[in-house]
Amino acid sequence: MKPSVTSVLFLLVALAGVAIAANSSWGARNSTDILLLRESVVRSPLKNGYQSVNVDFPKSGQTNTRAISAIFVIDRFTNSSGAYSSLWSGGVGYRFVSLNLKSQYNRGINSTVEIYGKR
Ligand SMILES: *[C@@H]1O[C@H](CO)[C@@H](O)[C@H](O)[C@H]1NC(C)=O
Ligand SMILES: *[C@@H]1O[C@H](CO)[C@@H](O)[C@H](O)[C@H]1NC(C)=O
Ligand SMILES: *[C@@H]1O[C@H](CO)[C@@H](O)[C@H](O)[C@H]1NC(C)=O
Ligand SMILES: *[C@@H]1O[C@H](CO)[C@@H](O)[C@H](O)[C@H]1NC(C)=O
Repeated sequence: MKPSVTSVLFLLVALAGVAIAANSSWGARNSTDILLLRESVVRSPLKNGYQSVNVDFPKSGQTNTRAISAIFVIDRFTNSSGAYSSLWSGGVGYRFVSLNLKSQYNRGINSTVEIYGKR
């Protein structure tokens, strides 16, 4: 039997849901690494739309001399409504990073970004 369009759509939504629900991380944290940035990103839902927030490190006017070793985005909703995060530039091995957090449709954002660097 050919799968119906509905079941394929359902599968796609389910797969996307799994990707979205999980916390994101890049790199690995060494016990000697130090916390360079911890930032909470909290937004209320945008009616009929998506919230999109960029998190940049270091902040403008600041400098960072340490190589980034790990980046964590922790979803505080923990009910599959969490924002999806993507790495836009920089990241592990660089001294800067630009992340984007995009909410799900009609959902807010409650995520914490943690960036660790080599001592
Ligand atoms: C995300 O990480 C937090 C803190 O480690 C944990 O409490 C939560 O269960 C995780 N959520 C998912 C969907 O893995
Ligand atoms: C953690 O960093 C220390 C110091 O740079 C290094 O000696 C050690 O091998 C690292 N451990 C891991 C698991 O990468
Ligand atoms: C965001 O998550 C934190 C930690 O779970 C919680 O204390 C806070 O009330 C949440 N805020 C919103 C707007 O959901
Ligand atoms: C998950 O929790 C957030 C914050 O409490 C809420 O805005 C959102 O509607 C919840 N999602 C679901 C699917 O219940």
